[in-house]
Amino acid sequence: MLCELLGKMAQVSLAAIHYDRIINMATHMTEGDLFQAQSERKKYWLDFDPEHWRRLSSPFRPSREDIDNFLRLLPCGLTGSKVAVLGATPELRDLVVERKGRPCVVDFSLQMLSGMAQYCKYAAGHEDWCLNDWRALDFPDGSFQWVMGDLILRALPAEDHAGFLEGAARVLTDSGCLIVREHILDESLRTASVTELLGRARLCNSREGLSASALGGQAGGHWSGRPHVVSLLMDKYADPAARVMNRGLAARKLDEEEGHISNPDVRELLRSAAGFLRTGPDWSISTKRQMEDALSRRFEIMNVLAPRDHLEGRHYPVYLLKKRSGEK
Ligand SMILES: C[S@@+](CC[C@H](N)C(=O)[O-])C[C@H]1O[C@@H](n2cnc3c(N)ncnc32)[C@H](O)[C@@H]1O
Repeated sequence: MLCELLGKMAQVSLAAIHYDRIINMATHMTEGDLFQAQSERKKYWLDFDPEHWRRLSSPFRPSREDIDNFLRLLPCGLTGSKVAVLGATPELRDLVVERKGRPCVVDFSLQMLSGMAQYCKYAAGHEDWCLNDWRALDFPDGSFQWVMGDLILRALPAEDHAGFLEGAARVLTDSGCLIVREHILDESLRTASVTELLGRARLCNSREGLSASALGGQAGGHWSGRPHVVSLLMDKYADPAARVMNRGLAARKLDEEEGHISNPDVRELLRSAAGFLRTGPDWSISTKRQMEDALSRRFEIMNVLAPRDHLEGRHYPVYLLKKRSGEK
């Protein structure tokens, strides 16, 4: 039954799955839960090819300084601490193990948990996996001292933020903390032209030591610039008041824009970014105010650290959040 379930789910090599590290699978998710695509987003992640991670760059993937910021906010030793890592992000799994903790990695995709393990330097054999939706964390109250994650609220529509944060506070001990890197809307981008956004992305690439041709040129080269461009476009087409992403407008404008771009690599980059936008989240990135209001209901904001090693760093801070005392 388990093999049949895993085989159907994941199209991953069964040999790559470590059964002893899949905890709570039977109790936490029914077969129906696992296969029912509850949302487009879940389907997106169930279909995501973990191989793409290799080609992703900041700000979709945490940068070196993002990791340093997480490390700054954690104690030097996590031996014996109960730590949950939300999402298969390899960098977070590794940093907990580097600090001698044993993370419980919580993700609704077994394929991602397993597929992303190849990018972990230290975590293999030192972590537990739990198939679970962050919106319904199925752990007893006070299970963890630390809950961590990368771009968690961005992955959820605004109507799920309060419920998620309530659940995260519930599974933390009274003195527990949530540490998350989040994407804050850069409102100035809403009026910027697509050409201005492309310019900004190129600038970023040259500052990161990549030439402007990293946008295109060699086969697959556009991947290095794509996350940055997608991030800027997500901001440009956000409608934070309505809490939606204006995907129809984005599709029309980007198609038009593509026709004016002569460089085939940049055109390809834009086409691929537009494809993500069409199928990606249909909700808006939160403004700083919306983000901090939501976080502050259940947590006290203790520290906020932004990286300087990518241009959008100011809009991708890591928050240290302490569960508010006396609240259940
Ligand atoms: C690999 S991390 C990537 C984080 C990254 N920095 C980004 O661009 O969003 C995202 C993971 O979150 C998982 N995920 C997304 N939404 C989830 C949810 N509601 N519950 C559990 N896992 C979820 C996906 O399966 C995926 O493995």
